[in-house]
Amino acid sequence: MFYLGESGSMLSVNRRISDIRSQVADWRSSGRTVGFVPTMGALHEGHGALIRASIEHCDRTVVSIFVNPLQFDRKEDLLTYPRDDKADQAFIEDLGAHALFLPSVEEMYPQEQWTILTQKTITNNLDGQARPGFFDGILTVVLKLFHMVSPDVAFFGLKDYQQVAVIRRMVADLNMEVEIRGIPTAREASGVAYASRNKLLSEDDRPHAALLYQALQATEAQFHQGIDDVDILLDGLRNALATIPNARIDYADLVDGVSLQLKTKKASVGDVLALAVYLGSVRLIDNLILSEKNSFLS
Ligand code: PAF
Repeated sequence: MFYLGESGSMLSVNRRISDIRSQVADWRSSGRTVGFVPTMGALHEGHGALIRASIEHCDRTVVSIFVNPLQFDRKEDLLTYPRDDKADQAFIEDLGAHALFLPSVEEMYPQEQWTILTQKTITNNLDGQARPGFFDGILTVVLKLFHMVSPDVAFFGLKDYQQVAVIRRMVADLNMEVEIRGIPTAREASGVAYASRNKLLSEDDRPHAALLYQALQATEAQFHQGIDDVDILLDGLRNALATIPNARIDYADLVDGVSLQLKTKKASVGDVLALAVYLGSVRLIDNLILSEKNSFLS
């Protein structure tokens, strides 16, 4: 099925695995490279940055939208996850992506999924600890999606830093022939990281979301002033987060940028400050990779 969007270009919309497979096979037979942006929909500028990167680097871009039940531990989170397929389809088409893969739950999981992928060590902390089974669900669905789409390159946002690290490790451990690119977090002018869940914030909590990134930046500023003691840095971060009205800290930690193990003594460049904070009932995550002083890359 093709959808003619406002820009006049054609987006191929595929609901069946067999359809996306033959679409990609067709491109491959004419020597085209394929970029892939897996999403759960409710698309925003953060996804926009991934789709643009894919269009820039690859001949053809596939975006998938699938709200994956396997990565939700609380049923109500799955039920309240924002969904708007029509707006998402227009968004993808206007950016110039070439194909949308929009499978149903039955298409993805026609029978109970007995084979679940799991990963050691790197999932011990942060979201891996706070949300048991979360990364098993992500790894399993991403592996399935990779088998269906067979991309050359897959694009993921570094807002989900641990997700990117876990997927990179899966690809290395399983000798998969897909390149994983992590794209820097897209932010609103206020500093708030774009996230589908931002839509669920109350009017009162909305302005407070910007304080999360400000707290991360203030901690990095301390690091740049020469403070590298992890306890001092994390006390400062947690105290700043504790002053945000209606906020509850799930975690606020410093981890090694590759192994994602907790840093306990000295912070170094490349370590990641990572947090998950509830504003009301909405759980937001954000992170900051500690940069060199005067770096323009942070
Ligand atoms: O980041 C997401 O939106 C999801 O975790 C992903 C990678 C699409 C897997 O369901």
